[in-house]
Amino acid sequence: MSRKPLIVGNWKMNGSFAKNTNLLASLSSVPNVNMVVAPPAVYLASVSAQLMNTSIVLAAQNVAAEGQQGAYTGEVSAVMLAELGARYAIVGHSERRQYYGETDTVVAKKCLRLQEAGLRPIICVGETLAEREAGQVETVVSRQLKAIIDNCGIDLLAQAVVAYEPVWAIGTGKTATPADAQAVHGFLRQLVTIYDKNIADNLSILYGGSVKADNAASLFAMPDIDGALVGGASLVANEFLAICHAANASFIG
Ligand code: 13P
Repeated sequence: MSRKPLIVGNWKMNGSFAKNTNLLASLSSVPNVNMVVAPPAVYLASVSAQLMNTSIVLAAQNVAAEGQQGAYTGEVSAVMLAELGARYAIVGHSERRQYYGETDTVVAKKCLRLQEAGLRPIICVGETLAEREAGQVETVVSRQLKAIIDNCGIDLLAQAVVAYEPVWAIGTGKTATPADAQAVHGFLRQLVTIYDKNIADNLSILYGGSVKADNAASLFAMPDIDGALVGGASLVANEFLAICHAANASFIG
């Protein structure tokens, strides 16, 4: 890995005050690795307090698409996330696309709200199994990423992170092979290069989908895989730390 590794733990809808405290107490910084945790919104404030004076960075799992204040019942705005100490927010996760109807247009709006508040979007892209079997991987991920570039401008990607998460690999124990993942990561970086080579060279492209301690090193050996977006394994301190150590071991920057 030549770009500084970024490892993001997406806790999804898991945790409790007690569990979060224990998990965070068991994490410690790993050299050369930017470590990020994304707890559910209700725990952002308490996790933020516990992360004070550590090098672990806070992310949100979602953000409001419309406005920063106002009549948007149930939503949490980017400005509010910034006030809580979050520096990143995940957008376009396949679970949000699938269960909550998050479209490319909505994902782009969320990116704009984050940009206004100075937060960095972690933009998720990825194909379903049916799309892969139909040979549409590049069509799908390029549509998803181009929607962001067209609506937000290429400069957004200088502040953003892209996460390639094949839907069929999420929570299934099936990981893309390192070569299959690299093919998509390389394709995404090439797509960004068409707009801006410097931004493409510096862009962190994370892999997500059943990343575990025992498959992380082989993924991180790929030239365009710059870290991981980790679900289940991020809830287990030793697993998450082992993934971070694998990233450090593969960092050649
Ligand atoms: P798993 O690591 O549990 O497969 O989840 C991946 C993911 O969706 C991270 O955002």
